[in-house]
Amino acid sequence: MPAFHTIDDLGDLTGKTALVRVDFNVPMEGGRITDDTRLRVALPTIRDLCAKGAKVALLAHFDRPKGKRAPTMSLAPVAGPLSELLGAHVAFADDCVGEAAKSTIAALGPGQVVLLENVRFHPGEEENDSQFAAALAQEGDLYVNDAFSAAHRAHASTEGLAHLLPAYAGRSMQRELVALDLALGAPKRPVVGIVGGSKVSTKLDLLQNLVAKLDTLAIGGGMANTFLYAMGHPVGESLCEKDLADTARDIIAEAGRKSCEILLPIDVVCADALGPGVETATRDIGDVRPSDKIFDAGSKSAARLNAAIDLAHTVIWNGPLGVFEIPPFDAATVSVARHTAERVKSAGLIAVAGGGDTVAALHAAGVADDFSFVSTAGGAFLEWMEGKALPGVEALRPR
Ligand code: 3PG
Repeated sequence: MPAFHTIDDLGDLTGKTALVRVDFNVPMEGGRITDDTRLRVALPTIRDLCAKGAKVALLAHFDRPKGKRAPTMSLAPVAGPLSELLGAHVAFADDCVGEAAKSTIAALGPGQVVLLENVRFHPGEEENDSQFAAALAQEGDLYVNDAFSAAHRAHASTEGLAHLLPAYAGRSMQRELVALDLALGAPKRPVVGIVGGSKVSTKLDLLQNLVAKLDTLAIGGGMANTFLYAMGHPVGESLCEKDLADTARDIIAEAGRKSCEILLPIDVVCADALGPGVETATRDIGDVRPSDKIFDAGSKSAARLNAAIDLAHTVIWNGPLGVFEIPPFDAATVSVARHTAERVKSAGLIAVAGGGDTVAALHAAGVADDFSFVSTAGGAFLEWMEGKALPGVEALRPR
């Protein structure tokens, strides 16, 4: 891991307030959290700081209120579930700056926790306004960033604050940075990348960065259709960005120059329409009919990718291979996910995955816990895979 200050560098924090940026941008329905993963990943940092005697003030955003108070985007419903997970009361302050924040923090004892209201209720947050950052900084003695998944945003609480207070990487941030470095920074080779998803246009930077770094890149999902089309294969009525055929050919040519083997599907699962239990046909590439729609990679493609994984020391995965939400079009994704998980156990493969769809697919395949690391980040994971510097991480580097 690159040299960052961490919680291990901190001694007794009694009498100090730690401002901790977490990512509690959790899925919610009717005011109830439907997936508390992001709360759970913040617990080690909160616990460690409490154990050192700090008052812990949690900074977080929820949704995109665009600088205005929006009651439906309050973080208030998060305090209760967080208290339960932590096993200790978490206070709530209905503003992240000013009197409400100050008095709630002042009322805390050592080792106690407050969740401050959505930082994005203030326009200064997303503007990374120096006065707003200074108002936040006034409330604490040190800053801990534990929100890797928001580190692609150069906002006051993710970036600006790190320049105003002594700054540390939290436990979850540390784990993300270590895992990502293992997967793409200094990986054990050969490295196989798996990139899926519907559109090439959303993953151009990613593909361009990966072909320069990987030994093998498997392309799946709807975006594979564009590559197949670019290579002269029929794709019927499938989702396909025909205007990106030249771009797809350029990526393949660049991969050749960089000695990155590209794996496109060699067979595909087709149907006339998308739906559970529809009639499907598996066809070799070249045999796709004019009325076909491709919704998954076929079993031969999955087997070939699994064989490449057998030779790999590292796998990095972003994006499913088919429309995994609708069986039977989950078959290739499930096969490769389970095979990868099995290689982690039996052969010490390092397998790192990230991105909302990917994580959901691994959960659906029942193997999310068997990967070496599954990132809780969406956009930040993607930008990191694209080779971009993340402002929230950069700002933590000791100066
Ligand atoms: C996320 O959920 O990916 C992060 O919290 C970032 O949220 P944002 O895309 O609204 O900045």
